[in-house]
Amino acid sequence: METNTMSKIICYCKNITILEIEQAILKGAKTLDDIQAITSACTGNKCKELNPSGRCCSEDIKVILNDTGSKAISHCCCSK
Ligand code: FES
Repeated sequence: METNTMSKIICYCKNITILEIEQAILKGAKTLDDIQAITSACTGNKCKELNPSGRCCSEDIKVILNDTGSKAISHCCCSK
């Protein structure tokens, strides 16, 4: 991924970048639960108000997890 893309915010509730997600995966994160524990991304539950897309970042994070070959078997903050 390009540097500009990596510095892009992915979780607007917690101000977490794509780079921070990638770094969490490098530290061993394999699921959305792992990403939540390491970065606090996907724990904000104010997505409709804060995320310009109007939805939770969970699906975007799962795409990154799947891109790296990890399994994204977890629940986002909005479904708990
Ligand atoms: S955008 Fe990530 S928890 Fe709301």
